[in-house]
Amino acid sequence: MGQRWLTSILGICMVIGMPAAVESISAGAQDMGAADMVLEGGSSGEVPFPHRRHQESLTEGCQVCHDMFPQKRGSIEALKAEGKLESKQVMNRLCTACHRQSRRQGVDAGPTTCSQCHQR
Ligand code: HEC
Ligand code: HEC
Ligand code: HEC
Repeated sequence: MGQRWLTSILGICMVIGMPAAVESISAGAQDMGAADMVLEGGSSGEVPFPHRRHQESLTEGCQVCHDMFPQKRGSIEALKAEGKLESKQVMNRLCTACHRQSRRQGVDAGPTTCSQCHQR
């Protein structure tokens, strides 16, 4: 097996491999985060949150939620600790507010009662 042959095979592999590599880099550029997570719910108990399901069903995009807190696990609790988010602010002004609004518009909406969200 000649070295020139090996070099050209390597060359072809690089040409074929390049677009796939570029595609996987751009596809990985946005970290979607965990599909499901459990949020801190204080004395009322933790709150299971289907993250992916919201990403898929909400047409408003990521910022509808991430305007209020960054795309980082534990960011809500961190901002609450710093006094930059009030206790229950995310719950009332984001989660429940959107679920109520959807319901008013007659759309399939998420839970609006305490025990549907909080689990003990
Ligand atoms: C309905 C609200 C909502 C929407 C919409 C949303 N997220 Fe999130 N996201 C959250 C919550 C809540 C957390 C957890 C924050 C915490 O732990 O304090 C989170 C956390 C994350 C994290 C960190 C979690 C991890 O597993 O590393 C990433 C990354 C993320 N989101 C990306 C996105 C992207 C990208 C989009 C849009 C395609 C998006 N999110 C849309 C609510 C949302
Ligand atoms: C749509 C889901 C949802 C519903 C409905 C809901 N909660 Fe929450 N709750 C959350 C989330 C998410 C958090 C954490 C973020 C925050 O503090 O805003 C939370 C936080 C809390 C906390 C802790 C606050 C803190 O800082 O320690 C309490 C207490 C609480 N909820 C009580 C209630 C009560 C009482 C009800 C019913 C009247 C209720 N929740 C309804 C999602 C919900
Ligand atoms: C901008 C609108 C919007 C926001 C903000 C939002 N939700 Fe929802 N949520 C929905 C809609 C619409 C559904 C029902 C459709 C679906 O399941 O995709 C839903 C469904 C749910 C469900 C029920 C899933 C199931 O299995 O039936 C839970 C639990 C939930 N949301 C929790 C939360 C929590 C906790 C937050 C805040 C961190 C939140 N949601 C913020 C729109 C929203």
